[in-house]
Amino acid sequence: MPSEMFSKSRREELALGPANRRPKNKPTAAKARITVAVRKKPLTAEEAKNDTDILDVVGRQKLVLHETRKELSGTTDKTTQQGFQFDRVYDEYCSNLTIYKSCVRTLVDSMFECGGRCSCFAFGQTGSGKTYTMMGPRKRGGKQEDSCSRGLWEWAAIDLEAWMKKPAYRERFVLAISFYEIHSNKAYDLLNNRNLVRPMESAEGGVVVKDLVIRVVTTEAEMAEVIDLGNSVRSTGKNSRNNESSRSHAILSIELVQKTDIEYRLAENPRAENPRAENPRAENPREGAMGDRNGKLSATALQTALKEGRSVAVSVRGKAHGKLAFIDLAGSERGADSVQFGRNTQQDGANINKSLLALKECIRAMDQGKDHIPFRDSELTKVLRDFFTFANGLCLMIATVASSSTRKNAH
Ligand SMILES: Nc1ncnc2c1ncn2[C@@H]1O[C@H](COP(=O)(O)OP(=O)(O)OP(=O)(O)O)[C@@H](O)[C@H]1O
Ligand SMILES: [Mg+2]
Repeated sequence: MPSEMFSKSRREELALGPANRRPKNKPTAAKARITVAVRKKPLTAEEAKNDTDILDVVGRQKLVLHETRKELSGTTDKTTQQGFQFDRVYDEYCSNLTIYKSCVRTLVDSMFECGGRCSCFAFGQTGSGKTYTMMGPRKRGGKQEDSCSRGLWEWAAIDLEAWMKKPAYRERFVLAISFYEIHSNKAYDLLNNRNLVRPMESAEGGVVVKDLVIRVVTTEAEMAEVIDLGNSVRSTGKNSRNNESSRSHAILSIELVQKTDIEYRLAENPRAENPRAENPRAENPREGAMGDRNGKLSATALQTALKEGRSVAVSVRGKAHGKLAFIDLAGSERGADSVQFGRNTQQDGANINKSLLALKECIRAMDQGKDHIPFRDSELTKVLRDFFTFANGLCLMIATVASSSTRKNAH
């Protein structure tokens, strides 16, 4: 991965420099915390030959669905139009960068300026462009096809780095990143070879994912490396709509954490088997050359461990200053999309739909300002609990829609 992923002109295009920008969307009690945007996917070359485009974007907020139905007599076709209003609608010519600038950047700003809990979901039918939106048109194996159409995650990484360079953050904070997927209601760590991890409720009423690998980053290049690593092991499968369908919900979690709240330990602590081995003269047998009595590494011990190429585990204690999560949801499926792909695929599809329903219920409860958010109904909503319950949160749902007439039942 090149250390400088983005050219200078790209950076200028983004007009980086958080100091120059104030978030327009500072969450307040009176303001809606949920934004719903829709992105229309263009017809593929194949679809353009045989199908018609049934979606029109009108202005910045309206989507019109054209439907052709047979009259009851069965002889003539009747075309109807239905208009839908959203906070923002993007047409098929719109790039990931435009989406980032117009509605995602405010989440990044809010995380720093307001200590917000901000979430960005890509939601939609299988094959409608969720992963394309979050990750960009990426070739399998992790590398981008071209630098102009990176995913939202990567555009955010540039701003995150810019924020982290500001003295107020550089001195005191780091970004703690984790990347995991929920597949069949189980969580797997994408930064640790899909190791099974367990989301649990913390004593403070939050959520911790036990055994999840956390990576500490400050630059966009480090973040890109983490994302590439995770993407390379993410579960994909085939259905009738997408040869590389994401079969899981992928969650990239970014936390702004005080440096003093980060703890480093040797991933495999040799003192666990023979506590005196490293420092036989230590008064306390658990106090070795590396780490204190609890195994926590000091700054010097951390440097030594890293120089020796030892694997270091990171944990975070205390509350994060701000949180941002990008969630690339698995596609909602109709039975017909997976019917010819066997029982496992169908079971996957059923699990995906079930967890999406649980998510919908949480978002609805949040929107209605209810005290009770039913986040315990699925593993997906359990791990996102903080984002639903925290008062100072922004939630962006990007619904991706395919415009081919053969997909109209999915809208
Ligand atoms: N806006 C777009 N412009 C051009 N091509 C797109 C766009 N959105 C999606 N595609 C292409 O459509 C195909 C399916 O997209 P993608 O894998 O992102 O769908 P998905 O919604 O993530 O599906 P699933 O739920 O099955 O994972 C890919 O080949 C992708 O490159
Ligand atoms: Mg996908």
